Amino acid sequence: MFDKGDCLVEVLPYIKKFYSKVMVIKYGGSAMLDAELREGFSKDVSLLKYVGINPIIVHGGGPEIGGTLGKLGMESKFYQGLRITDEDTMEVVVMVLAGKVNKEIVLQINKNGGKAVGISGVDAHIIKAKKKLMEDVDLGLVGDVDEVNPNILLHLSEDGYVPVVAPIGVDENGKRYNINADSVASAIAVSLKAEKLIFLTDTDGVKDKNGRLISSIKTNDISSLINNDTITGGMIPKILSSKEAIDKGVGKVHIINGTKKHSLLEEVFTQSGVGTQIYEQE
Ligand SMILES: Nc1ncnc2c1ncn2[C@@H]1O[C@H](COP(=O)(O)OP(=O)(O)OP(=O)(O)O)[C@@H](O)[C@H]1O
Ligand SMILES: [Mg+2]
Repeated sequence: MFDKGDCLVEVLPYIKKFYSKVMVIKYGGSAMLDAELREGFSKDVSLLKYVGINPIIVHGGGPEIGGTLGKLGMESKFYQGLRITDEDTMEVVVMVLAGKVNKEIVLQINKNGGKAVGISGVDAHIIKAKKKLMEDVDLGLVGDVDEVNPNILLHLSEDGYVPVVAPIGVDENGKRYNINADSVASAIAVSLKAEKLIFLTDTDGVKDKNGRLISSIKTNDISSLINNDTITGGMIPKILSSKEAIDKGVGKVHIINGTKKHSLLEEVFTQSGVGTQIYEQE
């Protein structure tokens, strides 16, 4: 029979192991479309904080940006999962990410008992950006992370707050860039030597060509999975960001389904975990 006490005690080793550790959680735009899911996510994050873990949230907002652009009669164009961003599109990206999506996540976490503070990579120079250069296409105001200044995130975390970061960066001339949230999450995780980097998305993890979940992927195998078109679209920046994080010393990286209730807690507090784990071959 299911025993609540046993279940609670089972999480004790994990609470002990992760106490005071940083976990960077990328909250994908596609996983936040449903109100009940947003509420579940907010409760999970508040719980992590109250048991002494330091979650730092980086969010996306692809569908929200696409929706607003559509309402304004503007087109969404992508290249390898990255949104081609001209000046007008950038205005909308900032409005939707930093103005709407960020504040909604903050509101939800605060409503569910946490103390969240919403900021963007522009605040306190958290994300110094540079233009992303591609060989065959100009992506406009799409940036790469050049440098992370994570101090403010640490201060907020240590003072009991949950930082919620919108993935916008700024260069030394004050020009703002739209940066894929997966790479921002990875860069922040690296800069803080995070215990875990968890991507919450709208699918169970990385799937093979037959749609079956791949439960673990070696960093060495990633390029062939992209080259043979197993991994496409929005999964490309996610898997490349996972590799970057592992290569640069983040403990563990997981891609999990944020549309399944409490998948975040299951990942953190169970032995088997859920979704796809990315690891480096010894
Ligand atoms: N091999 C694969 N396995 C799983 N999903 C894949 C694969 N290849 C491509 N995808 C696509 O990647 C999508 C996830 O990336 P997407 O960018 O859409 O979401 P997100 O990053 O969670 O949200 P946001 O970009 O708003 O932050 C999946 O919904 C799926 O369509
Ligand atoms: Mg994405």
